[in-house]
Amino acid sequence: MTKAKRDFVAVPDFDRDGLMHLLERARRLKIGEEGGAPLAGKSLAMIFRKSSTRTRVSFEVGMTQLGGHALFLSDRDSQMGRGESVRDTAKVLSGYVDGIMIRTFAHAEVEDLARYASIPVINGLTDLLHPCQVMADLQTVQEELGPELKGRTVAWIGDGNNMATSWINAAYRLGFRLRLACPEGYDPDADILDRARAVADVAVTRDPTEACEGADVVTTDVWASMGQEEEARARTVAFAGFTVDSELMGRAAPEAIFLHCLPAHRGEEVSADVIDGPRSRVFQEAENRLHAQKAILVELLG
Ligand code: CP
Ligand code: NVA
Repeated sequence: MTKAKRDFVAVPDFDRDGLMHLLERARRLKIGEEGGAPLAGKSLAMIFRKSSTRTRVSFEVGMTQLGGHALFLSDRDSQMGRGESVRDTAKVLSGYVDGIMIRTFAHAEVEDLARYASIPVINGLTDLLHPCQVMADLQTVQEELGPELKGRTVAWIGDGNNMATSWINAAYRLGFRLRLACPEGYDPDADILDRARAVADVAVTRDPTEACEGADVVTTDVWASMGQEEEARARTVAFAGFTVDSELMGRAAPEAIFLHCLPAHRGEEVSADVIDGPRSRVFQEAENRLHAQKAILVELLG
């Protein structure tokens, strides 16, 4: 009997043990305790319908380091950009490669790709979720604060976007405390929030100070995500008072760290002295994209 393929479309695709195992594997890959070429001869198709620096480079380099190969496919030069269906693309790619990573707009597109592909599908960001990023963030939290995430408090400040929902999904599975401060009208997806709130200590407030009080991790993201460029001006007004600055960091725990998935806009969602200051771990976090994703790749494609 052939083993059923596994996808990583959302954090809850893995249970608590599965996620902790991925994080442990990411740790071991980072320090060289796991090596070799577990993906020798394997290929990953990377579909990018939105821009990327970190995701593209970390997946491509990750595949190379694991002994495999990655192909970059963009709308500009693939038939998807000319309207070939997700279903046909999924079936065709399943005949060539061993896994697909996709970054796109509609989350349903990734779910459809996973449904029709007979190979693992990895979500490299949608309008709704960015699960690979939060795995790198969790690895960074473990490195800084210890392996047990339960009992920690994370403060999310700003937009209830794809990163906010990914943190909520992580709290849902791993059981840490999550405080989100979002302006009215910018709350995270209600279904994702409700599911997490049923089992974990997850709360939304309008007050960034309240959310930061005693937090071990303070994190934020841009106010206008990819595809929301035209809303940027209105969002700047709506998010006034939601900048993570040194005063806000002062409300967090004394050893609290600051995370941001990047790219960042200094002076908007975060002040330069915080993101470039001693509490910031953003470049360690960015590097961990490589290690966390290698763990996911070995797990799904290996
Ligand atoms: N954080 C992140 O996903 O970065 P890129 O958009 O550069 O891939
Ligand atoms: N929320 C941001 C994350 C970028 C990595 C966006 O979707 O543009």
